[in-house]
Amino acid sequence: MDKKPLLILSALILNSEQLYLKQVVILSRHNVRTPLSKTLSQSSPKPWPKWNEKPGYLTPKGTLLEGFMGEYFYTWLHHENLLPQGCPSENDFYVYANTAQRTLASARSFVDNAFPRCNITVHHADSVDPIFNPVIHNTTSTFVQQALETMQNYMKNLHLNHSFDALEQILDYTQSEKCIKDHCCNLATDKNTAIVKPGTKPNINGPLKICKSAIDSFIMEYYEAFDMKNVAWGLLNTDEQWQSILDISYNYHNIIFNTTLLAKDISEPLIKYMTDIFLNKNEPKVALLMGHDANLYTVLNAMGFKPYSLKKQHEVTPVGGKIVFQKWSDNNTNDFLKIDYVYQSSEQMRNGMRLSMDNPPIFETLKLKHCKVHENGLCLWEDFKKLLLKL
Ligand SMILES: *[C@@H]1O[C@H](CO)[C@@H](O)[C@H](O)[C@H]1NC(C)=O
Ligand SMILES: *[C@@H]1O[C@H](CO)[C@@H](O)[C@H](O)[C@H]1NC(C)=O
Ligand SMILES: *[C@@H]1O[C@H](CO)[C@@H](O)[C@H](O)[C@H]1NC(C)=O
Ligand SMILES: *[C@@H]1O[C@H](CO)[C@@H](O)[C@H](O)[C@H]1NC(C)=O
Ligand SMILES: *[C@@H]1O[C@H](CO)[C@@H](O)[C@H](O)[C@H]1NC(C)=O
Repeated sequence: MDKKPLLILSALILNSEQLYLKQVVILSRHNVRTPLSKTLSQSSPKPWPKWNEKPGYLTPKGTLLEGFMGEYFYTWLHHENLLPQGCPSENDFYVYANTAQRTLASARSFVDNAFPRCNITVHHADSVDPIFNPVIHNTTSTFVQQALETMQNYMKNLHLNHSFDALEQILDYTQSEKCIKDHCCNLATDKNTAIVKPGTKPNINGPLKICKSAIDSFIMEYYEAFDMKNVAWGLLNTDEQWQSILDISYNYHNIIFNTTLLAKDISEPLIKYMTDIFLNKNEPKVALLMGHDANLYTVLNAMGFKPYSLKKQHEVTPVGGKIVFQKWSDNNTNDFLKIDYVYQSSEQMRNGMRLSMDNPPIFETLKLKHCKVHENGLCLWEDFKKLLLKL
């Protein structure tokens, strides 16, 4: 049993003074969804699982797991005296989601379980929302050239041969349509092409994308609690095997979202939105922003977080995972920042375990490179403010 979250549940202490929680901004990734790719069948001769929902939709399991998160967050934030008992006003709790079905439905499930029968409004744009849309904004050809070079340089230095081998075995890749029809038979040597177009998401065509899409399906099959013989056709059974193939996915996301040049450009509208919440006195006590892994990746990079690792999770930005920015205060008007990655372990997800004080999600404290941590993961709110104004 992990005891750490119990400490978090009692109020924070600094220099033996009790702190109280003043404000929370939750940047969340939607929960379990169906695989995004519509071309999976080209990468393996084996049958891919059938899902009841359309590609990229939240599954009932995702709804359940996000509901558990909602229940838990209400319990925690009420316990910390930040939220009142019962239904909150929009000054207490404000929820804003991207327009994709999976983000809207995740936000809905979170609030319906956090605040049952309160009929909380999930705010969202009417069409594509520029705040969440992870696209390239800079239209200059210099930027496009720089972005392409950045991505290409990253791709030159990959060491993924073992991972590609493992995935070729799992997929039976030499028998796939990709190999037989398109003559792309070697994941390690076939060409990857970086694509950078202002107004769209950075993209990669080639084996990295094929692999990332297959791995995405395996991860969702696992969370969805398919029988292990139906997760990657029964060929992923050890942590080492998972780690090996997930390395490809990790690098794929780093190439498109985790370089400073791209991350800063892509995340700018969202960071500006978040900065307004952090700096404006009239903002809600708690804000839930429901987006995508792209949003978390780019915000983490652009704000300058130190590397972290999430225990008991295979993913680096797990579905349903939340970066939770907390403003804590002592009673002498000193404010502090604490940031935790709050997420469900792979096992909590697969087993559909309800969260509670006794079975909390995992809290992993994150650190910013430019906000010096003093004690208990806390840095000065003033330092955070300076950092935000420089972004
Ligand atoms: C819920 O709120 C919406 C508007 O926010 C309103 O139209 C609807 O009637 C409400 N439903 C209930 C059951 O209160
Ligand atoms: C666009 O990118 C160029 C090249 O990196 C840079 O000089 C310029 O400042 C960028 N423009 C904006 C608005 O960020
Ligand atoms: C990966 O394998 C390919 C051949 O399949 C080889 O050309 C390349 O040098 C290998 N890369 C590394 C880093 O070992
Ligand atoms: C982003 O890249 C850095 C290395 O440049 C790495 O340490 C970090 O883990 C990456 N972040 C994510 C979320 O993958
Ligand atoms: C500090 O102030 C808050 C808000 O005014 C109050 O709820 C809390 O009891 C105070 N804590 C201490 C230790 O005095």
